[in-house]
Amino acid sequence: MENTEKKIIFSGIQPTGTFTLGNYIGAISNWAKLQEEYNCIYSIVDMHAITVKQEPAKLRQHTIEAYALIMACGVDPNKSIAFIQSHNTNHAEANWILSCSTQFGELSRMTQFKAKSEKHPDDINAGLFTYPVLMAGDILLYNADLVPIGADQKQHLELARNVAQRFNQKYSETFKIPEPYIPDVGARVMSLADPTKKMSKSDENQNGCIYILDDKDTIVRKFKKAVTDSEAKVRYAQGKDGINNLMTIYSVVTGKSFDEIEREFDGKGYGDFKVAVGEAVADHLEPVRTKFAEYMSDKAYIKECYTKGAEAARRISSKVLRKAYKKVGFVID
Ligand code: AMP
Ligand code: TRP
Repeated sequence: MENTEKKIIFSGIQPTGTFTLGNYIGAISNWAKLQEEYNCIYSIVDMHAITVKQEPAKLRQHTIEAYALIMACGVDPNKSIAFIQSHNTNHAEANWILSCSTQFGELSRMTQFKAKSEKHPDDINAGLFTYPVLMAGDILLYNADLVPIGADQKQHLELARNVAQRFNQKYSETFKIPEPYIPDVGARVMSLADPTKKMSKSDENQNGCIYILDDKDTIVRKFKKAVTDSEAKVRYAQGKDGINNLMTIYSVVTGKSFDEIEREFDGKGYGDFKVAVGEAVADHLEPVRTKFAEYMSDKAYIKECYTKGAEAARRISSKVLRKAYKKVGFVID
């Protein structure tokens, strides 16, 4: 972890229930792969999660589960730093400093804020509005070079870059400007029930959403019901949102190219294809389910890992935060 030649990666995920296949393909599956080449820092961002109403006992449970799940997906706390956001109060402090370099107007343009406030009209709290500033702090506190995210987080990353640039201009060079790291294939996994919408935990039609911990029968059943089109030909083309989505998923879990997939299913119907995708996904996720159960049966080990992660996270981020405090003119010694 201390190799300073390597570039730094930071990413976070909210502990808001079991992760979906979208989270897995768009984000977490890449986290493990990146560990070899980069210094990676990953966080379960519980502070972000409370921008929408959470049941406290469930949030606690989901936070531990999320930590176990990223380990089950291959994040190794001995190779990377993996921690729970609220264990490092530097994030809250960075949030304030950066808020003072963020404009009301730019936050008002965030599409996720608009979508979430429409969804929760009775609780449009200030945290929901300033959430991208907290996210900017997450990234900037570690001098991250790259931030692996799905396509829906691109706008927030752009804001983090703008805020960092503005701070640097105001006070002189302080923060590194991060770049997004968005996968070429699978940055936006779509709902199986409505392939024009992204796959999401909050999908009204639960058949549209695959959870990482779904069992094989459930996964295959949901894929069998996937919405497709009437052409009955497996090929990647405009207007074939359902098939394009299934091909994308199949390509990610099998490593096959679109050409190979088209050849494999030449002359076969959608029924065969859907079952094949469902089975490939279920088989791919099987080891994740097994490892998750193993980790969850050893809570002491999970605690040991997140405690160690928080210490390392505090150590790195304290230096950056202190630098920012000095730049803005706080008395620091
Ligand atoms: P969230 O569940 O919103 O906390 O998202 C966690 C990560 O998963 C973020 O990097 C998202 O961009 C990514 N993600 C969420 N849903 C999808 C999806 N349907 N397709 C691809 N990536 C996704
Ligand atoms: N906002 C991200 C999401 O909802 C989660 C997140 C919080 C994040 N802080 C981050 C992602 C920092 C990347 C980097 O998915």
